[in-house]
Amino acid sequence: MVIPPNVYVSRHPLVQHKLTLLRNIATEPKKFRELIRELAVLLGYEATQDLRLCDHQVTTPLAQVTGKHLQDKIGLVPILRSGLGMVDGIWEMMPGAEVWHIGLYRDHETLQPVQYYNKLPIIPTVQVCLILDPMLATGGSAVATCQILKEWGAKRIKFVGIIAAPEGIMRLSEEHPDVDIHIAAIDDHLTPPPSKPGDPPEGYIVPGLGDAGDRQFGTA
Ligand code: URA
Repeated sequence: MVIPPNVYVSRHPLVQHKLTLLRNIATEPKKFRELIRELAVLLGYEATQDLRLCDHQVTTPLAQVTGKHLQDKIGLVPILRSGLGMVDGIWEMMPGAEVWHIGLYRDHETLQPVQYYNKLPIIPTVQVCLILDPMLATGGSAVATCQILKEWGAKRIKFVGIIAAPEGIMRLSEEHPDVDIHIAAIDDHLTPPPSKPGDPPEGYIVPGLGDAGDRQFGTA
């Protein structure tokens, strides 16, 4: 697979170390949530390195200095439910951000996203949106969320995830080439439709980490 230019796969050693702990089937939900939070901070840090700044005067105990403030209002947009665990760590670093939840579930028959929650106000209140979802599988939810945010009036959108499948990367970059994708890994493939009892459901990332929602919330 040729990686599109808008895709950034973190090579940070902390990210790669934590990702391996996260994948491990033996990692319990409490540790899993901690790792999701820590990875979100590290990936969010990388994803925000080109945010715009404006000058801001402050007075130190010794003198006045022209420092910098973030220019754009930032929105964190977790896709329910597995994106929830990525919010708090990033929000601590950007306490002025707004958090707008988008609820999408994947119809198991069609694998298409169905929206069930969206409280975005009519007038856009942020300029830069960070979509948070640990797994970019088929790309259906990410594409639908970009569409919702663009129709709402978001000027810039970035996707921050943890593991992506090649199928999800290609679909999101083809449909929204202006959306940067920040992730920790591109995995091998998606699971096919189950052919016998006990097979995993269709559309899971392999090797992946299983169901990111179930593993965070202990509902496996
Ligand atoms: N969602 C998940 O939680 N895991 C996958 O592998 C794919 C989608």
